Amino acid sequence: MQDVDAIVKEALAVFAGIDDADKLEQAKARYLGKSGALTELLKGLGMLPAAERPAFGSRINAAKERLEAALNEQRERIQAQKLDARLTEEALDVTLPGRGPGSGGLHPVTRTMERIETLFRSMGFEVADGPEIETDYYNFTALNQPENHPARSLHDTFYLADGKHLLRTHTSPIQIRYMESHRPPIKIIAPGRVYRVDSDATHSPMFHQIEGLWVDERITFADLKGVLVEFLRRFFERDDLKVRFRPSFFPFTEPSAEIDMSFGDGWLEMGGAGMVHPNVLKNIDIDSERYQGFAFGLGPDRLTMLRYGVNDLRLFFENDLRFLKQFN
Ligand code: PHE
Repeated sequence: MQDVDAIVKEALAVFAGIDDADKLEQAKARYLGKSGALTELLKGLGMLPAAERPAFGSRINAAKERLEAALNEQRERIQAQKLDARLTEEALDVTLPGRGPGSGGLHPVTRTMERIETLFRSMGFEVADGPEIETDYYNFTALNQPENHPARSLHDTFYLADGKHLLRTHTSPIQIRYMESHRPPIKIIAPGRVYRVDSDATHSPMFHQIEGLWVDERITFADLKGVLVEFLRRFFERDDLKVRFRPSFFPFTEPSAEIDMSFGDGWLEMGGAGMVHPNVLKNIDIDSERYQGFAFGLGPDRLTMLRYGVNDLRLFFENDLRFLKQFN
């Protein structure tokens, strides 16, 4: 039979080497359990001479107490280690800056729109708005393009299934809507999305336009030139920028012109313009003898491409953050 002291010594060493709660309980069973080493000794007590029994019994009890105490200490140590490990693992550095929701930024075309609005506002223009889903009347008829007018086919229009509505092909219908509810003097710009069946590196089925309209008693083509040249020079921050007006045709303006801007060795088309056709004014009961005005349509997408040096229009509408982040 093993000696009490030897058992205690061994058990203490075993307990001290265990760092897992379950294993510690298993080790306890080996010494203090029903058939544990100390329990076995106790069972043999009866075989000892009566005189030796009390002393031996109390030695075993003392040994049991020692082991229980050692077990408790080890249990607490394991517990504390576990807690420490968890605290380190879940450590929260309260001195780190917060993550926040991440800040967004404006789309480059939106930046251009805002810039255009600011520049025109400073010249006294107000900003008007209109629906993207239009009727044939506002998109074409009221703009002096009756049914079967050849210019309609140039627009490659998206029609809605109801056959009555369409996605506006230009921002010019806003002219009509605005003039229906306002009388001259009228001095507005109207930015917005427009749609045409068209798609390549410089054409997207959805793109942007800015319509301009100034109607009053003495508005001439010289005002049109003055406003557009001033705008383009201020937009590109270049006083030497050259602007050219090339004869063109639009059903709703007469005379009409394409606006070109000097660019490198050549010219770039920036939009269309002209003096509002008397028929358009008549359509909305504005006296075309007394009032006249000019209208223009510019492409903010093109303006954005030139300002930031972007060579593919589609990049604006693919929502690739790597591209968009560069503008903020
Ligand atoms: N609405 C014309 C277009 O989209 C542009 C334009 C606007 C031309 C106003 C003249 C006057 O093609």
